[in-house]
Amino acid sequence: MFKDDVLKGKRILVTGGGTGLGKEMAEDYLRLGATVHICGRRKGVLDETAAELMGRHGGKVITHSVDIRVAQAVDEMIEEIFAAGPLTGLVNNAAGNFISPTKDISPRGFDAIAGIVFHGSFYVTLACGKRWIAGGHKASVISILTTWIWNGGPFTVPSAMSKAGINVMTQSLAAEWGRYGIRLNAIAPGPFPTKGAWERLNPGLAADEDKGREGSPMGRNGEMHELRNLATFLMADGCEYLTGQTIAIDGARYNANGGNFYNLSKLTDEQWADMAEMIRGANEKDRAKRTA
Ligand code: HXC
Repeated sequence: MFKDDVLKGKRILVTGGGTGLGKEMAEDYLRLGATVHICGRRKGVLDETAAELMGRHGGKVITHSVDIRVAQAVDEMIEEIFAAGPLTGLVNNAAGNFISPTKDISPRGFDAIAGIVFHGSFYVTLACGKRWIAGGHKASVISILTTWIWNGGPFTVPSAMSKAGINVMTQSLAAEWGRYGIRLNAIAPGPFPTKGAWERLNPGLAADEDKGREGSPMGRNGEMHELRNLATFLMADGCEYLTGQTIAIDGARYNANGGNFYNLSKLTDEQWADMAEMIRGANEKDRAKRTA
């Protein structure tokens, strides 16, 4: 869809870029000529991804071990990146989520998700934004949201609330920072199955076994290249007048049936207990690899 060098000269940070959707977008940015920074809590995973992507496409992927819930650590990372030259783009992709009846979520559980999605996305946007403004640099910010920002997310309430907040950040800062040439848009993907998300949203169903036929007007889930193309379009030169928008890419699932987890209302307490056990197992495995 794009010329091979459409992102030549761009410098883009993808938060949570070591795995999942973040890795997909990072790969396309690299392939299309950008220098790519990825950050996350697991340095080993980030370094493996960087080596894999550079092995495939050449170019440069730089990794940063950081927990975006820690504002000072975020600012230090962005300071270090900008010392070598300003970023031209940021993708707020890092997220935390798990399905749960809201009555069973502890304050710490809420904070774990809101800390990453709501606070963390703002910290990174702020750390970049103030440097872009001070230096007179134009830039593009993309935040990865979900269609639940429009109709609510039963059983994913901390995520839905936090992403709705980032949707308002997108609209607000698009207006406030438009005069600096800083654009903010967001993507609201429907299901694009990845290991990390499916272990927490569909425990027991492997990402590659989910064909997404049920509830989808198109009879399928999203394909990664479709998401990557939209993420590249929003980063490339040529759509400078497009800002403050959140674009759904869900095959009209949200329009057809809400696109959220309302159907989990039918689960029994026992089924929920099994799910929570599986989710905690996945969290535990990931935590063992953390460096930040
Ligand atoms: C209830 C749970 C729980 C569960 C964890 N907790 N799992 N509560 N049900 N299934 C509670 C814990 O008991 C604890 O509270 C609190 O959450 C913090 O848990 P930790 O594991 O200590 O937190 P932490 O290590 O910081 O991990 C954060 C996390 C984890 C959000 C819980 O899942 C994570 O790191 N996720 C990152 C990757 C991810 O989630 N990817 C999916 C994104 S999908 P107590 O009170 O017991 O101490 C997405 C939307 C996609 O964002 C949309 C698709 C359509």
